[in-house]
Amino acid sequence: MITITTKQEMQQLAKQHKTDGNSIGFVPTMGYLHVGHLKLVKEAKKNNDIIIMSIFVNPLQFGPGEDYKAYPRDPERDKQLAEEAGVDILFMPSPGNMYQNEKSIRMTVLRRTDTLCGVNRPGHFDGVVTVLSKLFNIIMPDRAYFGLKDAQQFAVVSGLVEDLDFPLELIPVETVREASGLAVSSRNVYLNEKERIQASALYKSLQKAKELINSGIQDIEAIICEVKDYMKANMEGDIDYVELLSFPELEQITVLKGKVIIAVAVKFSKARLIDNIIIDI
Ligand code: PAF
Repeated sequence: MITITTKQEMQQLAKQHKTDGNSIGFVPTMGYLHVGHLKLVKEAKKNNDIIIMSIFVNPLQFGPGEDYKAYPRDPERDKQLAEEAGVDILFMPSPGNMYQNEKSIRMTVLRRTDTLCGVNRPGHFDGVVTVLSKLFNIIMPDRAYFGLKDAQQFAVVSGLVEDLDFPLELIPVETVREASGLAVSSRNVYLNEKERIQASALYKSLQKAKELINSGIQDIEAIICEVKDYMKANMEGDIDYVELLSFPELEQITVLKGKVIIAVAVKFSKARLIDNIIIDI
């Protein structure tokens, strides 16, 4: 594995791979790698000649109240994990290199952000699409891999790729789960022992919703109520939202048809967890 720290060098190398006829699979991350990231690499390795992973904590996607400086970082461990997973090129630019010039363009996401986590994170997805547009132009991937744990990010990035005609395929990758069903997340370390057991109620409540839908229930409000009731009965966290929306449009629906997402967010004492399932009806 080689590590590259400037966008100029990275773009040069990506161009060379393109000229040589190599397909590029891209895994964008902010580092502090866990099994979820490594699954993205595993998927990417199935269909691409070269795997490029970026590790860049993007200052643009952090709001004023969110601590960009405190975001967990462990570059040495990340390098080791990336290499073991089979990454060929690790791209780790500095903020100074990525955002070299004074900005003359501002990107604004117009849809899919006024719901779920977007409600409380104004500007967050503007920062995500800005950095991804830059990374797509620098790395020129054939395929880019995103975990469905952050399904809203996947939906927003699908809109970006479609709107700006990026010549790449977005590949959604299933959420990695612990045996209890709890979605793997770096935030799980902030759960105490009791909360960790209770947190499996998020996925179990989503499974409950799936069962109801599969049994023919059409009443969206009733399904949302069942999910809330299940969580309230099985955990002490505060429910932030339970939503049932079209996917990837993330619009309110009145009829259960086509692809839908059921998404939940719960605040525990020191961690806010999100989870979702996507069902094709
Ligand atoms: O999901 C993330 O880690 C980040 O939002 C991403 C896609 C790497 C953009 O900074």
